[in-house]
Amino acid sequence: MVRELSLAEQASLTSGAGMWETVAVPGAVPALTVSDGPHGIRRPDPDSADELGISESIPATCFPPAVTLGCSWDPELARRVGAALAVEARALGVGVILGPGVNIKRSPLCGRNFEYFAEDPYHAGVLGAALVTGIQSGGVGACVKHFAANNQETDRLRVDADVDEQTLREIYLPAFERIVREARPAAVMCSYNKLNGTYASQLRWLLTALLRDEWGFDGVVVSDWGAVNDRVAALAAGLDLEMPPTGTDEQIVDAVHDGRLSAGAVATAAGRVAALAHRYATTPHAAGAGTKPDAEDAAGVGTKPDAEHAAGAGTKPDAEHAAGVGTKPDAEHAAPADAARAGTPGWDVDAHHALAAEVARSSAVLLKNDGALLPLDPAAAQRIAVLGELARTPRYQGGGSSHVTPTRLDAAWPELRRLAGERTELTFAAGYHLDGTADAELAAAAVGAAAGADVAVLFLGLPDAAESEGVDRTSIDLPADQLDLLRRVTGTGTRVVLVLAGGGVLAPDGWWDTTAILAGFLPGQAGGTALAQLLFGVHAPAGRLTETIPLRLADTPSYLHFPGRDGHVRYGEGRYVGYRYFDTVEREVAYPFGHGLSYTTFEYHDLDVRAAGENRWRVEATVTNTGDRFGHEVAQLYVAFPAMTGDAFPGDRPRHELRGFAKVALAPGESAPVRFELAPRDLAEWSVPRGDWQIVAGGFTVELGASSRDIRLRAELTTPGDGYVPPVGPMSTVTEWLAHPVGGPLFTAALAPALDGQPLDPALVALARSLPLAKLSMFPVGLTPARIADLVAQVAQHPS
Ligand code: BGC
Repeated sequence: MVRELSLAEQASLTSGAGMWETVAVPGAVPALTVSDGPHGIRRPDPDSADELGISESIPATCFPPAVTLGCSWDPELARRVGAALAVEARALGVGVILGPGVNIKRSPLCGRNFEYFAEDPYHAGVLGAALVTGIQSGGVGACVKHFAANNQETDRLRVDADVDEQTLREIYLPAFERIVREARPAAVMCSYNKLNGTYASQLRWLLTALLRDEWGFDGVVVSDWGAVNDRVAALAAGLDLEMPPTGTDEQIVDAVHDGRLSAGAVATAAGRVAALAHRYATTPHAAGAGTKPDAEDAAGVGTKPDAEHAAGAGTKPDAEHAAGVGTKPDAEHAAPADAARAGTPGWDVDAHHALAAEVARSSAVLLKNDGALLPLDPAAAQRIAVLGELARTPRYQGGGSSHVTPTRLDAAWPELRRLAGERTELTFAAGYHLDGTADAELAAAAVGAAAGADVAVLFLGLPDAAESEGVDRTSIDLPADQLDLLRRVTGTGTRVVLVLAGGGVLAPDGWWDTTAILAGFLPGQAGGTALAQLLFGVHAPAGRLTETIPLRLADTPSYLHFPGRDGHVRYGEGRYVGYRYFDTVEREVAYPFGHGLSYTTFEYHDLDVRAAGENRWRVEATVTNTGDRFGHEVAQLYVAFPAMTGDAFPGDRPRHELRGFAKVALAPGESAPVRFELAPRDLAEWSVPRGDWQIVAGGFTVELGASSRDIRLRAELTTPGDGYVPPVGPMSTVTEWLAHPVGGPLFTAALAPALDGQPLDPALVALARSLPLAKLSMFPVGLTPARIADLVAQVAQHPS
């Protein structure tokens, strides 16, 4: 159908019609509405002056952002959140959700880390794929972002990320790859930055060779908002849709006319956008939707609701998933803005709020719990001082394009009061102002309340201004006044439960004198209730860290390379991101990747590893709840690689890498099996010279444990490798020749006459090992240039 459109119409489809709409072609292509964001629908109110809807949008459930959801280590929960997001999206007339964001937390300073899942690509890929699957099960498209190497906010529209291919392939791309291959997202959003010299929006290797040709992506590549710098170059590279529009469609038409761009490329991009719109367009709800701002009377483009398309393929929610999440019939979606503002938003607000609470409590991480202080017993006779403004004014999401206007908002303080039994005396003191204004009286009152209590529950965290899209943090410290309060409160000698809020890693200063620490991250609109329930043991914390908490910022691997300067950021730490670095160099950390306690204890036993094909293994073990309370455990599977060869340096490969995880819920005394499969790729690393994944023959270890630093079970295994033999030539070293199955014997035989049966001097051998074969003609070992050429020719006859 698209091929029957004029070139101008096709070109117009490759750019938006407005901030959140694609172009409609009457009778041919409906308009599609897209919306942020990953953890809730941010649908700008058409009647509001705030076109972007950043500060105010139509109310929607504010689920916990990815930093929090990620800590659940629960893909099924992520899938359910996705399904709920889809219901709200449809109710609000949105066809494609601009999320999830699956960039890797390279540095704790990245201002947008709260929107991302983890420092580990396997984890981010699994959670991201589950969220996409959930969203798309509800007939709404997901748009995975920001592709790729967008790991900072500083200079994000220009910065050139210098990343070697091994690091890209092993750290920054696999989450995208897994999601594309497994969950088939409707769209991928390219990032603003340059990658190795070229804007991501113009990088053909990224958008076409890798994404489509290698991974099989068949959806739409959309630009981040304003990421296109050269419309023609972007389209030629594989970018289908520019957002928002820049009024440059003429450039596309001209480029085709003068031969700089093929007509086929335009038709292909337009065809993909049209297919996306057909699949996910909802009934345009606002007059003017789908109309180019400057072309209102061109052809009445897209202002008519197109019945045929509204009922088109793929827009019906999957009955199975819709059932539990309160879908309302389509008729009620007709005027979503009005309905939502009138308080009848077309979904089950209570059910979605409850789901947000479930995520918050499943994701909160109990970092420390000395003497099992938590949970607090609501029936005990006790005095509890609840301290900190954040207990009554929660911090629950980050700032920027993902900011959602919640349907309601729970604070912890009222819920704590509700849960406390009659014999519990609760007092509250704010202790500090969220804007950091010093207030000696406020602080003194909190310290006094702590001194007079049996337990102080102190809520601290980052204020809104500390974490937002567009700006990186410059430190990982708590605000100075809060830190001071923490020291004074712990100084009273009263046992302190520290409850932390924030989407970014915090330095552990002042934490050691607390008795318990519960990290709630950014817990979404129901977080207050969830945290109160965890503190009083209505539920048990079930989250695990997805980002290492270092002792100091300066310990982090990207410390000297973040955020770069002079237009470049060099990913100098390579693939040593997060625990891959800390565990390889055995650096002490505050809390390791994967860490998190429960109110009970777990034991791991009966590890069983079986071969299941070439470079495939089945791994199984049993986890038992050995305590006296219900709880969740997250069993983590790592694969540890010893040095690759006898000549390897310690940093030749990360110490170990996460390859699987399984979350189990267990009653006291109960056991459950955890099962994993290892596939060839799990043993492979990216070989730059080979330009492919490679499995080197040798031993490796399967590790199963409760964090990257708490391995409970191990099995030693051996892989035969993948059979690949790196070719050798005149510039290959003696070591490489000796390792070659054909070249090694030939080379040894060639040396034999000169050696005349004498062993080689070990010092000479050591010296010669790194010499390229061609250079041996300088030495009296009988290898003339002609003999060397002959060796090379003989080896070349054998296929590698
Ligand atoms: C952000 C994206 C977002 C887009 C639309 C950009 O600034 O980087 O994540 O989807 O704006 O709001």
